[in-house]
Amino acid sequence: MSKICINVAWPYSNGAIHLGHLAGSLLPADIFSRYCRLAGNEVIMVGGSDQHGTPITVSAEKMHMTPEEYADRYHEINKKAIEDMEIEYSLYTKTHCSNHFEVVQTLFEKLKSNGYIYEKETEQYYCPRCARFLPDRYVEGICPKCGAEKTRSDQCDRCGTTFETGDLKEPYCTLCGSVPEIRPTRHFFLKLSAFRDRLAEYVEEHDYWRSNVKTFTKNWLDEGLTDRAITRDMEWGVPIPEKGWDGKVIYVWFEAVTGYLSASVEYSKIIGKPDYWEKFWKDPGCRHYYFIGKDNIPFHSIIWPAMLMGAGDMTLPYDIPANEYLMIGGGKFSKSRGGAIDVPSVLKEYDADLVRYYLSAVMPDTRDSEFSWDDFITKVNNELVADLGNYYHRCISFAKKNFGCVPDPVTGPEYDETGKQIEDSVKEYSGYLSGCDFKKGLKAVMDLAHYGNRYFDSAKPWALVKTDREACGGALFNCLRIAKALAVMAWPFMPASSGKVWNYLGYSGTPEDAGLEAACVPVPAGQELAEPVPVYRKIEIKKEKKPEEQKKPAAPAVPEGPFADFRKMEIKVGEVVSVEDHPEAEKLYVLKIDLGEEEPRQIVTNLKTVYSREQMEGRKLLVISNLKPAKFRGVQSSGMLMAADDGALGGSAVLLLKPSADVPNGTVINCGLQNSSSRIEVKHCEKAVIKVAHVKDGRFLGKEIQVPEGSPEVIAAVIDGDRAIPLGDGKGCVMTVESGITDGADVV
Ligand code: MF3
Ligand code: ZN
Repeated sequence: MSKICINVAWPYSNGAIHLGHLAGSLLPADIFSRYCRLAGNEVIMVGGSDQHGTPITVSAEKMHMTPEEYADRYHEINKKAIEDMEIEYSLYTKTHCSNHFEVVQTLFEKLKSNGYIYEKETEQYYCPRCARFLPDRYVEGICPKCGAEKTRSDQCDRCGTTFETGDLKEPYCTLCGSVPEIRPTRHFFLKLSAFRDRLAEYVEEHDYWRSNVKTFTKNWLDEGLTDRAITRDMEWGVPIPEKGWDGKVIYVWFEAVTGYLSASVEYSKIIGKPDYWEKFWKDPGCRHYYFIGKDNIPFHSIIWPAMLMGAGDMTLPYDIPANEYLMIGGGKFSKSRGGAIDVPSVLKEYDADLVRYYLSAVMPDTRDSEFSWDDFITKVNNELVADLGNYYHRCISFAKKNFGCVPDPVTGPEYDETGKQIEDSVKEYSGYLSGCDFKKGLKAVMDLAHYGNRYFDSAKPWALVKTDREACGGALFNCLRIAKALAVMAWPFMPASSGKVWNYLGYSGTPEDAGLEAACVPVPAGQELAEPVPVYRKIEIKKEKKPEEQKKPAAPAVPEGPFADFRKMEIKVGEVVSVEDHPEAEKLYVLKIDLGEEEPRQIVTNLKTVYSREQMEGRKLLVISNLKPAKFRGVQSSGMLMAADDGALGGSAVLLLKPSADVPNGTVINCGLQNSSSRIEVKHCEKAVIKVAHVKDGRFLGKEIQVPEGSPEVIAAVIDGDRAIPLGDGKGCVMTVESGITDGADVV
């Protein structure tokens, strides 16, 4: 067991945190700390609200509030948002509190008595009209290095350069717009120059840092370290612990980075072990991780290590996995962009785990990544719900229903192979997570879910349960092992849902209580299962669009109006798993069809006169899957098969449609047009015009059509007016029939 201290960048409390904060630092820190605890380490995770600094005083002034009222308001809002997102800090505190003041002032004094802080007269912007000194953001102008406009006077957001007074071009006072003067004032300076060699050596030793962190830091060091003013002419902040310094406070960056230490101290007091923090901060063997956005790099890789070195015998950062930016519509996420992207609003609409899943999947760990609601819905519906959620539900509910508890294992190759697959996955996963490679770690989880689904499909427990109950139990035993491994591995990413699955599997507590090794230990035979409820729900696509989407030009090539009836149909690829005669009606089959759901659907069909039992078994076909269930001579039917009928055209064939490519069961065949999966009646389907015909010279029954490369000659297509669209998954799989048919046959 090792000790790990996880330090999370402190969000400014001048607005609600948004998805950029989550993806940049909060979520990776939480995933990592959950993983570290799962792996059995002693972990503290600390942080809080960064409440000082000029942006907050500027905003508070605009809102006619005191800086304290303003900063506390957002502290409360963000604290709650963080809890609701299940980001689990040991302590989420704030910088405007007496504990923080004390720790900062003590560190200040220590550095001063060690000779690393000294007093100097310096120059500072002063606004003659406002009659005040203008620190940092109170002055803006043009960045002398990259030319960015509206750059604040201490640092350029675009290129990262930090400035001294006088560096900025065309400066103006942000309160009144006048041109500021430069006046002398006294300040304290941090003697960064004294740490040049030690820092260079320190950075050299940490050659495993991410390349963005290494490069930025080396460039800073190469440019030569200059001493930096660490006090400011303003009232709002941590007071300078010296006489005669009224009207000045400690610079926000100096005290905010010290927050990691003060939060650790405060946490120790809260748990009644006031020296506990020393186990983390005075032990060089304790690993300190700092989860930050890339704009914070030099403060964590240079200034904070220098402060710790200057204080003496304090543990330095071990890793600083800084993320790049999450972008929206091509720009950086920020308060001013896009209305509903702040965490409290997003949580009103979506479960935390859905957001956590998506942000983990697109995390900007090595480069900027793009956020979009379309992509969010696609990834949630097609990956999280369809793969992981579906897997959990189909195997637990099937086992629960047919066995009530975990069935007995059957030893043999399948048993061994499942065990090996889980072990390999866990190993791969651990490698990624311990190296803070979260996107790849999540992929390892999803790959195992995929494996589980394929295993379930091929084991066909729904068929096996009737013929060989023991073998069925053996297969389910393996499936449940995989489900357990998934719940453990997914815990750091999606704790709420993983915890539920853990309980459905018959365990109390959480996967974290059991630890990472539990992933490789099967759920014991005989353990009672709980009645599962699907842990992820598909997001219904609403008519009303997000503001971000409205700005985009209409994406689909097809306008809203046409194909309106077709859009209501949900069509899926299915595979016939069993064929029975209808007990009452001679001409009917009762089929079980696998639609990639937890259990096969029962569908009654009148094709008995056309297809033999052998022809039906194992057949891939198309099912309208959102029909209201109906009874045929007393037997329930939940769906309808799609077949071409050219009877009306003089032919005599009734032919089932089939996919042209080997796509998984459950694949949606909606040409990208479906806009609802609510239940419909047969009469609604009849209004949509679907025909089977040859495609010749880009035409289908005289109408323009575009077919994917390699499509068969005869296909089914949906028609509206002058347009025809091949029935397919939109990715290259279209629908065809296997023998000759008259062009224009109706699909019914
Ligand atoms: N408030 C800063 C920001 O949002 C981050 C401060 S991190 C700390 O960019 F280390 F200084 F706390
Ligand atoms: Zn002014």
